[in-house]
Amino acid sequence: MTQPLIRQILDYDNRANPYPLYAELRKTPVLHDGGGTYVVSTYWEILSLLHDPRLSSDRRRRTVRDVYGLSQEEDGASNLPTPFLRLDPPEHDRLRTITNRSFGPPHSPRRVHEMRGELEAVVTGLIDGIEDAGRIDLVEQFSYPFPVTAICRLLGVPREDEARFHTWADTIAASLDPMPGEDPTERNRRTRDAQLQLGGYLAGLLEERRRKPGDDMLSELAAASGAVDTLSTVEAITTAALLLIAGHETTVNLITNGMLTLLRNPQVLRRLSEDPRLAVPLVEELLRFEPPVQLLPNRTAVADIDIGGVTIPTGAAVWLVPGSGNRDPQRFADPDRFDPDREDIEHLGFGSGIHICFGAPLARQETQLALSHLARRLHNPRLLEDPPPYRRNAVLRGPRHLPIACDDIR
Ligand code: HEM
Repeated sequence: MTQPLIRQILDYDNRANPYPLYAELRKTPVLHDGGGTYVVSTYWEILSLLHDPRLSSDRRRRTVRDVYGLSQEEDGASNLPTPFLRLDPPEHDRLRTITNRSFGPPHSPRRVHEMRGELEAVVTGLIDGIEDAGRIDLVEQFSYPFPVTAICRLLGVPREDEARFHTWADTIAASLDPMPGEDPTERNRRTRDAQLQLGGYLAGLLEERRRKPGDDMLSELAAASGAVDTLSTVEAITTAALLLIAGHETTVNLITNGMLTLLRNPQVLRRLSEDPRLAVPLVEELLRFEPPVQLLPNRTAVADIDIGGVTIPTGAAVWLVPGSGNRDPQRFADPDRFDPDREDIEHLGFGSGIHICFGAPLARQETQLALSHLARRLHNPRLLEDPPPYRRNAVLRGPRHLPIACDDIR
């Protein structure tokens, strides 16, 4: 009875609207699926576990085999260096702190602030480049190229190389997904292959920047590698790969989910077109209402944890479902309503605790700029397909295409 519910959430047929399934799931806040995995779907329980040191992000700590293709031996990353997303303190804190030095202070990083004008120019250029207002694929023509350009600029990765690293990044991002039924050996091979190729590519760039530094994060990571109390060369490569992937597989979905939500709520779209300041609370509500990271299937209990009337045993796999926690009526009034005027939008869209999203200030700025410019410039925009076709991924969820039309581009 319970297992089918989780399988239904992973089932592609439910990708466009997993929210009724989450409502079912929340009836059992901590659900033991019988296969070794504990699924946590209510807001307070998720928040508490995100701050609990008894829950590890390091999959090598997992001793109970889970049935969704994410067990230790099947994990493509298990023999390769681990990015800090998948590490616990003290290694996590050391790597995150060093990486932060080249990003700037946590809430308004210097680099993000400095990039604002440049990002605005990219947005304007992409909208100017739309030729046929009668048929736009917002993903291909806007939401994908914009964050890719931004993360390439931040890191100092040549934008022209996108065709090379796109497939590697896609493959690695897809490996975050539980895939019941898929051949784990083949999946493992594909992921390892992509990681090695991306690692080799970034190693070359880091070497170049070490010799000839530029004004970018790769240059700072290269300078930080090799010396005492800093990054090893392998750590610099792994961190650069983490930023590149995290920086372009997530924001694309927030921008696309944002436009989709606005087109379904035309009165909010109209308000945004008249007042770009609405973008700030609107993006927060979006991170609650349609978060690009729906599931965190990467935690392991390293001690017995009593929560929600259940004891999660040491070694068990734990899935947190922020996409569900964000719609928990125990936390948010009328949670299925998109309402940028909510006074209290403390969502789980960027996670919480020590792994809270490193790139949040950049993602916020990109999405605020993107949606306010689109709202102002697209005249009478409408959806051509609702729901649009979704990407396969359940963890990083979002439309693969967003076909829209408008009367004119101003
Ligand atoms: C971590 C979401 C954009 C870099 C996370 C986590 C979430 C998240 C939920 C926590 C993962 C966990 O607890 O296991 C998002 C969303 C984004 C976004 C929704 C866009 C809308 C970015 C960008 C970057 C980035 C643009 C890079 C510049 C990272 C890194 C971590 C992380 C490095 C790992 C942090 C750690 O383990 O300490 N993100 N992210 N993210 N994110 Fe983002």
